[in-house]
Amino acid sequence: MLVHTALVALGATLAAAVQPLEVDGQNFINPKTGNRFQIVGVAYQPGGSAGYDKETGRDPLSDPDICMRDAALLQVLGVNAIRVYNVNPDVNHDKCASIFNAAGMYMMLDVNSPLVGDSLTSWNPWESYYAAYLNRTFAVVEAFKDYPNTLAFFSGNEVLNNEDTGATVPPYMRAVTRDVKNYVKKHVERPIPVGYSAADVRSILFDTYNYFQCSLEGDEGDMSMGDIFALNSYSWCSTSSFEKAGYDELVSGLKGANVPIFFSEYGCNTPSPRVFTEVGTIYSTKMSGVFSGGVVYEYTQEPNNYGLVDMKEDGSAKLMSDFVSLKEQYSKLDFAEIQGQKPASTSNAKPPVCSSKLITTDGFNSNFTLPVLPPGAQEIIDNGVKPAPKGQLVKITDWKVKYTVKNPDGSTITNLAVKPLADDDINSPGSNTDSSTTTEGTQTSDAITDSTDTEEPSPSTSGNAAAGTAAAVLPAAVLGAFAVLAAL
Ligand SMILES: *[C@@H]1O[C@H](CO)[C@@H](O)[C@H](O)[C@H]1NC(C)=O
Ligand SMILES: *[C@@H]1O[C@H](CO)[C@@H](O)[C@H](O)[C@H]1NC(C)=O
Repeated sequence: MLVHTALVALGATLAAAVQPLEVDGQNFINPKTGNRFQIVGVAYQPGGSAGYDKETGRDPLSDPDICMRDAALLQVLGVNAIRVYNVNPDVNHDKCASIFNAAGMYMMLDVNSPLVGDSLTSWNPWESYYAAYLNRTFAVVEAFKDYPNTLAFFSGNEVLNNEDTGATVPPYMRAVTRDVKNYVKKHVERPIPVGYSAADVRSILFDTYNYFQCSLEGDEGDMSMGDIFALNSYSWCSTSSFEKAGYDELVSGLKGANVPIFFSEYGCNTPSPRVFTEVGTIYSTKMSGVFSGGVVYEYTQEPNNYGLVDMKEDGSAKLMSDFVSLKEQYSKLDFAEIQGQKPASTSNAKPPVCSSKLITTDGFNSNFTLPVLPPGAQEIIDNGVKPAPKGQLVKITDWKVKYTVKNPDGSTITNLAVKPLADDDINSPGSNTDSSTTTEGTQTSDAITDSTDTEEPSPSTSGNAAAGTAAAVLPAAVLGAFAVLAAL
């Protein structure tokens, strides 16, 4: 027990970190193990687009107490990555990034925001492509480049969303990818991948892919080609199937890609509540030769009704039945198998050379002469963003969740906390299920389970202990809570 306590004390002082991932051919690779990494992600944008407020400086990764609550729940759910859409490069993200890092989760960041001047517009990309906008995208790179768990940057999200925008946007979107990649190359120590997140509009999807993932002649070709290609896909609704959802078409259309492909959003919500039966297919061999997993849309319940968790103004939250269904689907997966694969030898295809012959839809842009940098932008790429917002991991000592979190049945989850994982560990279902079991001889328990603090009800939940459910009587509060749910 003494040894264990010492380890716990040590664990509190070391900044354990996930291994920065690399892209090799069509795979994300963990360089330490040589294994493929498959994204088991959730879109994270509490408050919707209003969660990013330029005036107050607020963004989804600026409030450590909120991040602690959500990292704990996402850890219990079993995810290993979050996608965050609208971040403010000038606020401090150190605590939130450190919390998600310790929880074994990677972060994918969009470098844009929906605010004017913060993104390339669909309708007049030429008017929104200017130096101050690019400076904003580079500032996001600066703000997140030093966190080991930064997985990727999205240079754009659904900027092409129909045939009209397919006619006008592609060269501008490819140019932004080029610019962000040039910035990363010049100012970031490791090659954090940059790529586009496409709308799964089938009439333009494959041309979008062909346009962004072909290779131009010369150096600019490599620099403007996406390092990853992702798509937001809602074609699997309810208990659909590989064929009915058109996943078969995605696999055949994107087969042989030279970069990682994944769903940057999925989770059709008609009908609702969702059953997430696509999860089993996405991580099956039917898909995994082409896809590296995906991101469920989305963590919080917003007016568009895609939430896993209903968040209240006061910071309390209630799990929705979608959370439980998704957790159930994840728990059916064999994570040792999914995250333990070595890349196939055929995973390093060469991209085709860009040519109008690759474009199949009438009217889709086939001009591969990209716009030149707007005035002033080269200077920013050369000299760096000034002042550059810098981030770094910081020490977190208290992993407890301060807010009340309830199950869908209204019972309260007690002892909810982030369980900091060991160095190089990546979260998976089961990493954080036993936060208050301390079985004799078990050495798997960590600071949370050993901490005497956990013997007391946490401040936020006191008074709710008599919820009268199994959750209140089982020692493993979180596990118990789900046991209740499983019985529903
Ligand atoms: C570039 O971004 C930084 C960081 O957000 C900001 O402080 C600076 O004012 C920006 N510069 C320009 C020219 O927009
Ligand atoms: C292709 O795009 C470039 C850069 O925007 C432009 O200068 C050129 O005129 C375009 N070519 C055609 C054939 O439209």
